[in-house]
Amino acid sequence: MPVIELHELEKSYGSVKALQGLNLQVPKGCLYGLLGPNGAGKTTAIRIICTLLSPDSGKVIVGGVDALSHPRVVRRSLGYVAQEIAIDKILTGRELLQLQGDLYHLATSQTSLRIRELVERLGMQTWIDRRCGSYSGGMRRRLDLASGLLHRPELLVLDEPTVGLDIESRSVIWQLLKELISNGTTILLSSHYLEEIEALAQRMAIIDKGRVIAEGTAEQLKQQLGGDRVTLRVREFSDEKESEMVRTLLNRIEGITQVVINQAQGFSLNLVVDSEQVLPRIQEELNKAQFPIFSLTQSRASLDDVYLQATGKTLMDAELEVASQRDLKLESKKAMR
Ligand SMILES: Nc1ncnc2c1ncn2[C@@H]1O[C@H](COP(=O)(O)OP(=O)(O)OP(=O)(O)O)[C@@H](O)[C@H]1O
Ligand SMILES: [Mg+2]
Repeated sequence: MPVIELHELEKSYGSVKALQGLNLQVPKGCLYGLLGPNGAGKTTAIRIICTLLSPDSGKVIVGGVDALSHPRVVRRSLGYVAQEIAIDKILTGRELLQLQGDLYHLATSQTSLRIRELVERLGMQTWIDRRCGSYSGGMRRRLDLASGLLHRPELLVLDEPTVGLDIESRSVIWQLLKELISNGTTILLSSHYLEEIEALAQRMAIIDKGRVIAEGTAEQLKQQLGGDRVTLRVREFSDEKESEMVRTLLNRIEGITQVVINQAQGFSLNLVVDSEQVLPRIQEELNKAQFPIFSLTQSRASLDDVYLQATGKTLMDAELEVASQRDLKLESKKAMR
């Protein structure tokens, strides 16, 4: 039985559709990665799983329990580490963990023991008795993780746990997560770092615009792409007609299974090919069409390629797009003032 099951989740904030029919099944005992660009709906889905937000429609089952009708049962069974942390600045880390223990009705002695374990495990000895106000980002993240783990949940939900962290904090966290999985904890982790998901997740869903667009193990996802990735740089197209002409030309060549014309990040043609033998043919055809190749790189399929195939964009482009939309909104707000 899956630990988390989401069926057709829908959630809007005013006119923004954050989730549009999200389906997800997280099996027991694995680290499940939720991968997607800014604004994909990761935090919204996670907050719904943790019963901090209600969906507009859909079903949420956590540990076999209906989370919408039994939120308290579900909340007690999981540990949640939020993306945005608002921790008290006056209290020390230890005091904060003690409060967390009270929240979960742990006996004082049990809490103290558990704090001792986690302080050691996460390397917090030298600063746990300092006020949280003085903590660095990495220290806060570790404290957060300790807080989510205090009651030994069977399910740990982490929303972008390593964003902007120093290498040491990141590796302490990765190491702990690996240990937790080997001890049978189920972990749901959202990230927009491909390498983080590749390193940690046994299974993953790529989400975009509130929907799952690809799901499986990294190997399965890459296999679905069915070939090597070839990136070609050519001169810019003068108009739509020209780019369509090149697309048609490439699509006609046997051995090319996918063609994406990428104009957002420099100017390139991203192809998926069956075998290297098709490369001379590509060069010949493009030369004939007055598109000499400036550069060519070939690589094995990566998760970014999977994302590119599903959305027509690279993860990086998707992030840039969101950032520029955000800047535009800011600009127009300023202009209105
Ligand atoms: N409280 C809110 N009010 C209005 N819109 C919101 C709110 N929370 C999220 N959104 C919008 O819903 C969409 C999904 O947001 P969400 O935070 O779930 O994405 P995310 O995948 O977690 O992104 P990120 O990687 O930036 O954390 C975005 O378009 C976002 O702007
Ligand atoms: Mg988020």
